[in-house]
Amino acid sequence: METKQVLHMNPGQSETSYARNSTVQKTEQDRMKTMINEAIPGLCGVTSTSLPKSMAIADLGCSSGPNALTLISATIDAIYRHCAQHSQQLPEMCVYLNDLPDNDFNSVAKSLATLKHSHQEQADPVVITAMIPGSFYERLFPCGSLHFVCSSNSLHWLSKAPEDLKERRIPMYDMDEHLRQSRSMIVADAYARQFRKDFTQFLTLRAKELVTGGCMVLSLFGRFSDNNITKSNQAWKVVSVALSDMASRGIIDKEKLDSFYIPIYTPLENEVNEIIEEEGSFKINKMLMRHPFHGIDDSLVSPKMIALALRAVFESTIVLHFGPSEEIMDEFTRILERNFSSKSGWRAVLDAEYPVVLLSLSLTRVI
Ligand SMILES: C[S@@+](CC[C@H](N)C(=O)[O-])C[C@H]1O[C@@H](n2cnc3c(N)ncnc32)[C@H](O)[C@@H]1O
Repeated sequence: METKQVLHMNPGQSETSYARNSTVQKTEQDRMKTMINEAIPGLCGVTSTSLPKSMAIADLGCSSGPNALTLISATIDAIYRHCAQHSQQLPEMCVYLNDLPDNDFNSVAKSLATLKHSHQEQADPVVITAMIPGSFYERLFPCGSLHFVCSSNSLHWLSKAPEDLKERRIPMYDMDEHLRQSRSMIVADAYARQFRKDFTQFLTLRAKELVTGGCMVLSLFGRFSDNNITKSNQAWKVVSVALSDMASRGIIDKEKLDSFYIPIYTPLENEVNEIIEEEGSFKINKMLMRHPFHGIDDSLVSPKMIALALRAVFESTIVLHFGPSEEIMDEFTRILERNFSSKSGWRAVLDAEYPVVLLSLSLTRVI
């Protein structure tokens, strides 16, 4: 099953929705605004002729809720500010929001209308907006039609889980610890190969769609360092540990767990660098690595908040495989909450067991 056929964040505004459980992603978006502000001058130039009459900008993997328009709005503001500073005529803006077809596009449509309205009050030029359902691992836009692409917290999602693991019936996370350890490198390598293939494809497609000199500002979850702990503790381990707990108590079927693969890979900074260089279409302007909770007040974080954030992201993938069950999802959330409630605190559990980071990067299309 490919990711594009199933994946979506929890829709709506309920207690378990992505809209109400995406503080970490929101904070990362706020940090990305600096990179957007730095990229815009290079894109717009400083003369009246250096700016195109209309500019197309796209957010890939926008999801729904308050985060869906944050980066697009920041980009329009940065372009308008730049034009005002350099007395340039404002370009007409075409705004595209992309995600997979099962995304809650209804709620995105409502916020798009607000975006259009707020920017039209600021200035004359039209803001034309559209939603583009589809996978960012496929072509989405005509050749040379985009000026700026942003994507936050999305590119660690693969187009699919590694086929060779499924064919060889090697579980992503074996409940048997001995088997799990002996196969951990096979699993890690299969996921790394799939990421290399997908990320290369993403870069090649966007290079076709962007104008020369066009920019991308991206963020994705990654791994802090390359050692045995981070290789075997992939980002999905947190989900697997909770599901294994349920399988050991007969709440879910063990055989079903063995055939469950989460299509996520958290790369090292070096891997991302190397793939961009090998693919060759983009120059790296800047790359940063941060702790996912950097800049978030500890008092705003609790084991329950982490559990609900993980549920909002992984529920659609779990439900598709194990079947819809409120009972399973509630138990899943309870286990996560308990696992993060150790005496040493949620941060210590996170750092020791699931050492993920957020990688953000700014790129310019060079060929
Ligand atoms: C964690 S959410 C991030 C949403 C938002 N950008 C943010 O920062 O809050 C990841 C999003 O990427 C989308 N996504 C994953 N794979 C995708 C693909 N191949 N094409 C388009 N969107 C994808 C998911 O559906 C999901 O909405």
